Amino acid sequence: MKAIRIHDYGDADQLRYEDAPVPEVAPDEVLIKIHAAGVNPADWKSRQGLMRQVRPLKFPAILGGDAAGTVERVGAVVSRFKSGDAVVARVNGAYAEFAAIKTDFVGRAPRSIPLSQVAGIPIAAGTAWTVLFETADLTKAKTILIQGGAGGVGTFAIQLARLAGLRVIATTSARNRELVESLGADQVIDYTKEDVAQKARDIDLVLDTVGGEVLKSSFASVRRGGQLFSIVAPPDEALAKDLGVDARFVRSNITGIKLEEIGGLIDAGKVKIVIEREFPLADAKAAHKLVETGRARGKIILRVA
Ligand SMILES: NC(=O)c1ccc[n+]([C@@H]2O[C@H](COP(=O)([O-])OP(=O)(O)OC[C@H]3O[C@@H](n4cnc5c(N)ncnc54)[C@H](OP(=O)(O)O)[C@@H]3O)[C@@H](O)[C@H]2O)c1
Repeated sequence: MKAIRIHDYGDADQLRYEDAPVPEVAPDEVLIKIHAAGVNPADWKSRQGLMRQVRPLKFPAILGGDAAGTVERVGAVVSRFKSGDAVVARVNGAYAEFAAIKTDFVGRAPRSIPLSQVAGIPIAAGTAWTVLFETADLTKAKTILIQGGAGGVGTFAIQLARLAGLRVIATTSARNRELVESLGADQVIDYTKEDVAQKARDIDLVLDTVGGEVLKSSFASVRRGGQLFSIVAPPDEALAKDLGVDARFVRSNITGIKLEEIGGLIDAGKVKIVIEREFPLADAKAAHKLVETGRARGKIILRVA
């Protein structure tokens, strides 16, 4: 099969479009014929070796965690899927024509959008879901501040938070104001011109998707007894204790069942996916250069088939 592989950690020039063996399928796995792969910041971070402590790569490695496609073949004990089913999945190695993955991480694809767009769902929407519905205590929250409203995670988080009945404040640069409003943000703060900590104070729940100084300054926005969750880095524990804030780093927990829930919301017209750009698989370098800018709006997609 054709795949984008890397043979060592490094910059985007490491990404090589080449032949690779089709993965073996274990009894509890399905082999997915990939139609499209989503591109995530984790992909360039892995490529550069920034995640080698948590998730070391074995070379040659195929990157990519988000896949949409059809089931090509099922393992011996799999009954939930059959060949030809359109699926969405959290995989290891989506930048390829095929990927094998346990059925736990596979869901039926939503039908109302093309598979190329479905590929943008798993990590971004799954992470927003993990934070909002599996980490946060929404009984204690009326208002959420989403730092990074225009990104992959942010665009889903705004919509899911609105569905959960929260008042949504989102930060973005001016060019993305309308986009973020169209997704349902009640208030938009242009972080390039306005002081976010001044504009958003006493917030019940803060989701940080930016990290660094933005994570630090998020403490000024959250109320005592409030919640601050970062998907980028662990918040300062001592400061959290001092301020009486439940502050945590959250890692996504994405299952096929969750992906089907999210797909259901998409089919019901309650959630939409924002696509920045689609590239052919062979242009993964360009896609990585774009995601690495940290300025993409919504999702970047690699079209495989
Ligand atoms: N813990 C986990 O399991 C997990 C899961 C998924 C993602 N992540 C991490 O979460 C982060 C976000 O992921 P993503 O996929 O959403 O990234 P992304 O799509 O690349 O985010 C890009 C967006 O960030 C916005 N942005 C950049 N700087 C900003 C700032 N200072 N304030 C507000 N917005 C800003 C940009 O909007 P403007 O152009 O308007 O600035 C752009 O739209 C990444 O670091 C990723 O690795 C972690």
